Amino acid sequence: MKTDEIFEERLKRHHDELRWLYMELYDNGDMFAELCEKLHAFALEREQYLMELDREREQNPEWFRGNDMLGMMLYIDNFAGNLEGVKDRLPYLSSCNVNCIHLMPFLESPKGRSDGGYAVADFRKVQPKLGKMEELAALAKACHKQKISLCMDFVMNHTSEDHEWAKKAREGDGEYMSRYFFYDNPSIPQAYDRTVPQVFPTTAPGNFTYLEEMGYYVMTSFYPYQWDLNYQNPRVFNEMMYNFLYLANQGMDIIRIDAVPYIWKKLGTQCRNLPQVHTIVRMMRMICEIVCPGVLLLGEVVMEPEKVVPYFGTVEKPECHMLYNVTTMATTWHSVATKDIRLLKKQMDIVNGLPKDYLFLNYLRCHDDIGWGLDYATLEGWGMREVEHKRFLNQYFTGRYGASESRGELYNDDPVTQDARFCGTTASMCGVESALYEKDEEKLQHAVRMDLMLHAYMLTQSGIPMLYSGDEIGQLNDYSYKEEEDKKEDSRYIHRGKFQWYLAKKRTEKGTSQEQIFSGLSRLEEIRRSRNVFRSDAAVYTYDVKDDSILCILRENEEERFIGIFNFSDGERTAWMEEPGVFQDLMTGEERKLVNVTVPAHGFIWASKAK
Ligand code: GLC
Repeated sequence: MKTDEIFEERLKRHHDELRWLYMELYDNGDMFAELCEKLHAFALEREQYLMELDREREQNPEWFRGNDMLGMMLYIDNFAGNLEGVKDRLPYLSSCNVNCIHLMPFLESPKGRSDGGYAVADFRKVQPKLGKMEELAALAKACHKQKISLCMDFVMNHTSEDHEWAKKAREGDGEYMSRYFFYDNPSIPQAYDRTVPQVFPTTAPGNFTYLEEMGYYVMTSFYPYQWDLNYQNPRVFNEMMYNFLYLANQGMDIIRIDAVPYIWKKLGTQCRNLPQVHTIVRMMRMICEIVCPGVLLLGEVVMEPEKVVPYFGTVEKPECHMLYNVTTMATTWHSVATKDIRLLKKQMDIVNGLPKDYLFLNYLRCHDDIGWGLDYATLEGWGMREVEHKRFLNQYFTGRYGASESRGELYNDDPVTQDARFCGTTASMCGVESALYEKDEEKLQHAVRMDLMLHAYMLTQSGIPMLYSGDEIGQLNDYSYKEEEDKKEDSRYIHRGKFQWYLAKKRTEKGTSQEQIFSGLSRLEEIRRSRNVFRSDAAVYTYDVKDDSILCILRENEEERFIGIFNFSDGERTAWMEEPGVFQDLMTGEERKLVNVTVPAHGFIWASKAK
């Protein structure tokens, strides 16, 4: 079939619904016709090898659901200097078993006003220090040769104030002003502020920024230099879709739609998760399937579970292919601090009860802070009240509570709501940093054990595990951001340090913490990808072992029964259980019984039995 025919066929499949939704939102037939023409043009521009990949993936729509999937997110400059460097380092990533790389924002963004690259000034230009667009395309090609998928961010809620549109708007050009939210007096901004919560209450308070020279207020939900785009304007939607497709055509496999719940605004609401957001995401999904069906949508929805799940859409009308398992991540750290797994068990039961085709990305740490979005209704029943509990968690993880060995810093410590969030690397939160500082070998062993236990737990969940670059060698907090003028106010940089290649070398030196974590993780990853029981379609349950510090997870398919036991307490504990038969301990290879199993402090067991 010719490219044109393939396009026509794909368009035909979605045309009516796409048109329906577009007209519902914009009621503008000309703009819809323009969109369709552009979709055609982008489809024709797609490189031959990507078109082939599209067809392969259409025939094998489960391609990204295998248990061999393992992601890693990294900053290009921190990891390897520039795009060329990342290409040179692909062998290292493969040695980490990684087959999906999330490149953190790398598009043109003004220094000092970039929000870690999340303030994009040009959607079609790579930051010069990182390379050129052609190098991105070349990296994508090199990745595909090695069966590595590439993911990038599409920051669609806002542009940088240095974006061409923003510059023209600032000059008073009405056409461009209408792409943002401008008000010439404070009454509407004030009305919004009454119902819209703040994203950065301390580092960037308020949802609007007053532009002195213009005499206008502009909506800035995030930092003042990130201007919210107005998706009520079809020109914004169309142009942003063209940017999206341009980036997809560089060879992206996954596009992470950043801060997607925020993209539609309506006075009198919280401006989060409005129904029109879902209309837009559904349209994006169809646009992908028409132009680049090999590309997946990853939604960044950092919200409570009831808000997250709708972004999968329905079976007939899917939206995102995958979403972050954010509540499980936060609840995991809550369990570390409280040594109480009851909430985690409950959370896992909720996730395990969802349809198996919902694919989550599981992670312990990412580039952002940890917000304590927990199920407080349940916690209150157990005597943990929200404000006090958040305070406890923050004290715990900053190492100021009891025997806590965690290290890290608060983020957006809001004096009004007392709602601080937390930043730090996995290893530092597990106590590796303090143990190394104190040169305390026993503490170090304990911390490394906790680090591996948490990774083992994360890898036990269904979905795609996502590592944060550096975690594979237990990288510590990096305090050097405090010396950089444009970073010092944003403590998220504490866990966005340069990758320490000299420490990475120690991953082969027996007995170092780097070696223990790296080899422990490798072992877990190899086990995970070699056993079908880790596939997303396996049945997964939690198992009550009569100890609130021990989480027990069962995975089962027709061939195998797998049991993971995770001790969240700092003492040796017993998992009270009686499993018939003999299991194989997957970490040691030895045979063992699973009857009242003793697990060391912060230790874990992965065991399996053929059926
Ligand atoms: C997302 C990013 C975060 C950024 C925000 C604004 O939440 O993960 O780092 O600050 O979007 O774009």
